[in-house]
Amino acid sequence: MRDQAMDRLLAALADLYGTEGRAEAIRTATLLRGGLGGDLWAAQPAPGFGAALVALAGAEGAHPLAALVAAALPVLPWGTNPADGRMSADAAKATASATLLGPTDPIRCDNLLLGLFWQRPDTYYALHNHDADETYVILAGGAEWQAGEDKRWRGPGEMIHHPSLMPHAFRAGPQGLLAAWRWSGDVNFQSYKMLPDPEAG
Ligand SMILES: [Fe+2]
Repeated sequence: MRDQAMDRLLAALADLYGTEGRAEAIRTATLLRGGLGGDLWAAQPAPGFGAALVALAGAEGAHPLAALVAAALPVLPWGTNPADGRMSADAAKATASATLLGPTDPIRCDNLLLGLFWQRPDTYYALHNHDADETYVILAGGAEWQAGEDKRWRGPGEMIHHPSLMPHAFRAGPQGLLAAWRWSGDVNFQSYKMLPDPEAG
């Protein structure tokens, strides 16, 4: 079905990634706009964290796009994480992804992906990496964010780029974390792996 809330979200994500300044981000934004008005969406079961996500999206300091995510919740396909099955049990329990654009997803593209990410409050998504280049944008809440050697608190509006194979890990704060992400470059899923991490466990 068509969904106006999803159209507003896709347009805002296109605008957001249009500001990233990388050719792959511009291509992703163009594909997102190509999905506007599409008959691509289906009603989805509410995720267990839905109420927490809506509350966080409406909290002071959230990026305006977070409210658009909350509005589109009835059709967001949570549980469509391309790395499912390769994450540690702890990481899989702490996080959820909704893939909106990719090889098998509502907006089709073989070599680019884009989705949303939720991390439960006070959880740790341990160190991992993958071949794909990745750019996250924090929409609501925040996390102590490790990207390579760079470790610091990241909050709404921050855009974080992980070049291919850069190790990254996120410790969500007491509110949890809502973010958008995109993949480009070598987007194979077999390369996704959890790395040795003394902070895990
Ligand atoms: Fe990643």
